[in-house]
Order: sequence, then C-alpha cells, then structure tokens
Amino acid sequence: MQFDLIAIILFLLPPYVANAVPVIFGGGAPVDFGMSAWDGRRWLGDGKTWKGLIVGIVAGVIVGYAEAGVTGNSAFAFLAFLSSSGAMLGDMLGSFIKRRLNYERGRPSLLMDQLLFIIVALLLPYFILAAMLPQVLLPEAVVLVLVVTYVLHRVMNIIANLLGLKKVPW
Ligand code: CTP
Ligand code: MG
Repeated sequence: MQFDLIAIILFLLPPYVANAVPVIFGGGAPVDFGMSAWDGRRWLGDGKTWKGLIVGIVAGVIVGYAEAGVTGNSAFAFLAFLSSSGAMLGDMLGSFIKRRLNYERGRPSLLMDQLLFIIVALLLPYFILAAMLPQVLLPEAVVLVLVVTYVLHRVMNIIANLLGLKKVPW
C-alpha cells in the first residue's frame, strides 16, 4: 500500500466542511440547553448549538455525495456521514473538556480546537476506513492529516476573524 494524497483529500473534505460551516450557519439553542454539569460549569457552552451540529453534518454529507458521484463509489456518502459526525462529536468533546478545565468559551487550546475534531473524524469511521481507504490510516498519512489540519484550521480561523465571523482568531 502506498501513500495516496487523493484518498487523504477525499477523506478530509467532508469533516473539514462539517467543522467550518457552523461558524457561518450556527447559533440558536445550545446543545446542552444551557445546563450546567456537576462542577457548576456548562456541559458544552453556548458555542455548540443544535443548528451548528445539524448543518455541519448535512453539509459534510452533501460533500460526500459529491465525492460518491465523482468517484462512482457510493460508499463515500456513508463515510462522509461518519467522518462529519465524528468531527462534530470531537468538536463537542473538546468543548466538554475545555469547560471541565474551566476554559471560558472561545479560549484556545491546540489539542481541543485544532486536532480533536479530526482525530474523532478518523476514529469514528475507523473500520470503514480500514476497509475502504486504508491509505488514510498509514502512519505518514495520519501525521500529514494532523499537520495540515492544524495549519489550515489556524489559517481559516484567522480569515473568519478578519471577516467578522468569529470574535477571536482561533
Ligand atoms: N458553532 C455552532 N454549533 C456547533 C459548533 C460551532 O453554532 N456545534 C458555531 C458557534 O457560533 C461557535 C463558532 O461556531 O462560536 C465557532 O466554533 P468553536 O470555535 O468550536 O466554538 P467556540 O465559540 O470557540 O467555543 P469553545 O470554547 O467551546 O470551543
Ligand atoms: Mg473555538
């Protein structure tokens, strides 16, 4: 098996889109409905909303359908559903951990903001990836995914901040 950049890009696009779209279309009722956890702090905080969650997964799946059409492999649609759901789950897990560490909403954390979403996006569809796109699970591919995700996420958040979509550039 050899390194395959196309496979990596096909894998990355849906969870990237899922993670980015809520910044524009999110808002409204928070996933935790404003409730606090045992420590008196929010479960997730106001930055994780139902609308963002749903819009993110739907957008990722649409990208997956496009990939299925382009490649002729319908499994890309299902893979996109899992990787996009994983991205949103990872993003919420990050907020959950940040709240437990008493980080206020929006305070940056390298692991939680930039990397956790893509790690869970890789783990949730792990067995489908192993069967369908094993190239993406090669150690060198995983390292590339983490590095590219970190850099792209930083750049996109700086752009979102300049456009006034985010209060902070991370
Ligand atoms: N967003 C949303 N719903 C989600 C995820 C994100 O509505 N499920 C929107 C929110 O407006 C959020 C913005 O996208 O403020 C940026 O997301 P993110 O950086 O993940 O959230 P933060 O506001 O930084 O909050 P946290 O400290 O919990 O990461
Ligand atoms: Mg943030």
